[in-house]
Amino acid sequence: MKKHTISLYPLGKEIRVNDQTPLIDVLHEFGIEFLCGGKGTCGKCKVRLLDGEIFTNPAHIHKLDKLGFTKDWRLACMSNCTDDITLEIEQFNHIILADETEFEFTPGEGYGIAVDLGTTAVVVQLIDLRSAQVLAIETMLNPQIRFGADLISRIQACLDGNDGEMNRTIRSSIGTMIELMLKKHLVDLQQVVLVGNTVMQLIFSNCDVSPLSMYPFHTDNLGLKTFTPEELGWNFTVSKPIKFHASIGSFVGSDILAGIAATGIHQKEKYTALIDLGTNGEIVIGNREQTVCASTAAGPAFEGSNISMGMRAVTGAISSFSLDNESIIAHVIGNTSAKGICGSALIDAIAILRKLDFIGLFGEINSGADHLNLTGKINLTQKDIYEFQLAKAALAAGMTILCKKLSISPSDIQEVFIAGGFGNYINLEHVSDIGKIEVPEEKIRKMGNTALIGAKMFLFTGGTITEEILSKTTHVNLEGDPNFQDIYVDKMLL
Ligand code: FES
Repeated sequence: MKKHTISLYPLGKEIRVNDQTPLIDVLHEFGIEFLCGGKGTCGKCKVRLLDGEIFTNPAHIHKLDKLGFTKDWRLACMSNCTDDITLEIEQFNHIILADETEFEFTPGEGYGIAVDLGTTAVVVQLIDLRSAQVLAIETMLNPQIRFGADLISRIQACLDGNDGEMNRTIRSSIGTMIELMLKKHLVDLQQVVLVGNTVMQLIFSNCDVSPLSMYPFHTDNLGLKTFTPEELGWNFTVSKPIKFHASIGSFVGSDILAGIAATGIHQKEKYTALIDLGTNGEIVIGNREQTVCASTAAGPAFEGSNISMGMRAVTGAISSFSLDNESIIAHVIGNTSAKGICGSALIDAIAILRKLDFIGLFGEINSGADHLNLTGKINLTQKDIYEFQLAKAALAAGMTILCKKLSISPSDIQEVFIAGGFGNYINLEHVSDIGKIEVPEEKIRKMGNTALIGAKMFLFTGGTITEEILSKTTHVNLEGDPNFQDIYVDKMLL
C-alpha cells in the first residue's frame, strides 16, 4: 500500500501512514480532541496545511466556508492523507498556549518561563508577567527517552552510570528551547520555574535517585532546588534564581504540586480530587483545610504493559470500543488492521464485557474459556483481565484509603479532575461503570495539562502558593495502611 509522511508542527514529529488514512485517527494519538465527534461543526480540529495537499470535497469546503476558515486550513475530521504533508496543529497550540484556566495574579515585571518536564514530553512557555499572556511555546519529547520510557527504567539507567548523560541532555535541551524563544522574543527574562515528577527533578538537579530503586523506595531529598544559568550551562541571563519546585513525596512530584494549584483544591470548601493517570497514577484529595496525596501502581496496564495484546496508542492500536445493539465496535488508529489494544480501549472492553455478562464480578470469563475474542485476531485473556483488575484496584484502593485519612466517603467528593494525556482519551462513563474511579461520571472532568497551568501560576506567586499547598498536604504511603491488602482485594471486583 502507498505510504505518506505527515509532519506535525510544532511537535516536530513525523509519522508514516497508509494512503487514505483519516487524520482523525492519526491526530487522536497526539491528544487532539474532536469535540463535535467529527461532524465538521465545531471547527476545533482545524489544521493548517504548511506543505503538501489535502483534497477537499464540496462538503468539506462548505464546512470551512461556514466556519470562516481561509483556504490553508482543513478540518482534520474531514480529511484523509493522500500526500506527504506538514500540518500545524491549531488545537495543540490552543491547548497549551491558551489554556482557559483563569487565575488571579498580581501583575509582575518582565517575562518568565514555565517548564513542565514530563517523563515523556517537555513543554516550555514564555509568559508576559504583566498580563499572564503566553507569548511562545516550545515542546519536545524528553530526550532521556532513549534510556527508557518509564521512571523505573530511567532510575535503572542512572544506576547503570548514565545519570551524568541524562542530566546533561535534559539541561541542555531545555536551555536550547528557551534560547530559541529568546531569539524570537528579545525580552528581559526574570524567572524560570520548572515542575516535574520527583525522578525528573532529581535527575535534572544531579541528585542521587538510588533510594528510589530499593525498598522502602523513599527519598528525603524532596525540596525546592535553585540554580543559576551558569550552573545549568545556559547562555542567557535570568534575574532571579531558577527554581525546580519541591516534590511532595517520593513518587508525587512538583507536577502534582502544580496540579493542586491549577485545580485550586487547597482553596475549595468542598472536597475535590485530582487524578493523574500516568504510569504512577497519582491521586490528590482535599479541600482548604487539608489535602492528602499518594501514588499508586495503577499505570502499566493502562499503557498496554502486561496485557497480551496491549500496545501504546499508536497506529494499529484499537483506541476504543463501543456497543451497538450488543455488537462490539472497535475503532483502530490509522486506517489499518488492528494489531492490539491500548489502555483506553482496555477500559472500554472490560466495561462492555461486564455489561454483556461475558465476565463476572470476580473478573472470571463466564464461559470458562481462557480468552474472549474482541475483534479479528484481538483477544483478551483471563490474565489480561486480572492485570486490569490489579491496576483498577490500585487506583480505587488509593482513593478509598485517602478518603479514610480524611474521614470522608467518596460520595463527599464534589469534583474529580483528570489530568494527563491519557485522561483525554478515556470514556468517563466506562471508567465510572467499572469502578476505576468510584464517583459518578458527571462529577469527573478532564483538565489537560494541570502541571503546566500550575507552573505558570508559580511565576506570579513566588513561593507563597507552593508553601501553602505543601503545608496543607500530607503524602500517604498506601501500603502502610493496615487495611490496604483487604481494601485492595475488595476493589478488584468488577
Ligand atoms: S471535530 Fe468538530 S469540526 Fe472536526
